[in-house]
Amino acid sequence: MPLHLTPLAAAGEDRDELVSFLTRNVFPFHVRPQSTEQQVRAAIDAGDWGNGETEALWIDDEERGRVGIVRLHDLTDATAMVDLRLGEPHRGFGVGASALAAATDHVFRKHPAVLRLEGQTREDNIAMRRTFERCGWVLEAHYRDGWPVADGEPLASVAFSVLRRDWANGTTTVAPWPVLTDPSRDAKALIAATWEAEERLLTPAVRADAARLRELLAADFVEIGQSGRRWTRDEIIAALASDPGRGEIEIGEREARQLAPGLVLLNYVLRFDGRSSRRTSIWRVDPEPRCVFHQGTSVPRGSAR
Ligand SMILES: CC(C)(COP(=O)(O)OP(=O)(O)OC[C@H]1O[C@@H](n2cnc3c(N)ncnc32)[C@H](O)[C@@H]1OP(=O)(O)O)[C@@H](O)C(=O)NCCC(=O)NCCS
Repeated sequence: MPLHLTPLAAAGEDRDELVSFLTRNVFPFHVRPQSTEQQVRAAIDAGDWGNGETEALWIDDEERGRVGIVRLHDLTDATAMVDLRLGEPHRGFGVGASALAAATDHVFRKHPAVLRLEGQTREDNIAMRRTFERCGWVLEAHYRDGWPVADGEPLASVAFSVLRRDWANGTTTVAPWPVLTDPSRDAKALIAATWEAEERLLTPAVRADAARLRELLAADFVEIGQSGRRWTRDEIIAALASDPGRGEIEIGEREARQLAPGLVLLNYVLRFDGRSSRRTSIWRVDPEPRCVFHQGTSVPRGSAR
């Protein structure tokens, strides 16, 4: 659909035509769906339709004529904003996507400081959401209760954007949603579950119980003992059955690190029966923690660290 954008002089020669467009049409998804002439004139006088950082353009379609307006805000910032409005007779024909594409070209060509162009719409404005998607814009945010609705409960505001670099390269960068799921909280929960499993593994009642040990030790578990001997899971289970240990244990100098998703490294000093050893365990959590490796090295008596 060939169309072009024509500069709109809101406070000058286009004033009356702009007032007519904004009062004649209803914009059901805008915070104020219908405006009076007085409200529009006041907004124009306040610079809402054109000032140093806001620009408005007519959308002129070669077949349909003047079909709507695009307003661009925050043009001196790295993130500029877009508001697209077609007149009622021109909605429902896919003109919105051509207009948004033209507005994107305009912003990135004419405003070098702009790195991202963003638009927000009400969550139930399917035509606008689809228009963003058709133009390769990416959904970046869903603001719950972020869109006031006159005489009703607020709805969500959804934000889409396009990056200058994607526009220049003809690519689409997908928003990295998993980053938004608070990996630090996930890591903390993972590490807490791993410590709990490590402590269970040190309990004499668990060490004497082959079935519970099999739950905590991975099938490919390996232990390097303080003597340097290498133990498999079956070997260590058999050894612990005859000598599960007794007495109080004490864990000090705890350190834990998530090495990769679901993989945790624990280091600590174990004090037991008057002796100390430095312990290293690697746990795979998938979803239950299972120890895959353990090593203990004696700390000589009297050694400070
Ligand atoms: C929003 C607007 C720009 C969309 O432009 P448009 O050219 O009218 O868009 P269309 O109605 O052709 O719809 C675009 C797409 O959404 C789909 N669509 C529209 N309404 C739909 C609905 N209720 N359910 C499912 N799909 C719908 C269309 O089928 C079309 O799909 P396609 O791209 O696969 O062909 C225009 O309707 C408008 O100016 N509305 C009033 C102002 C406004 O809400 N502006 C947004 C403020 S940011």
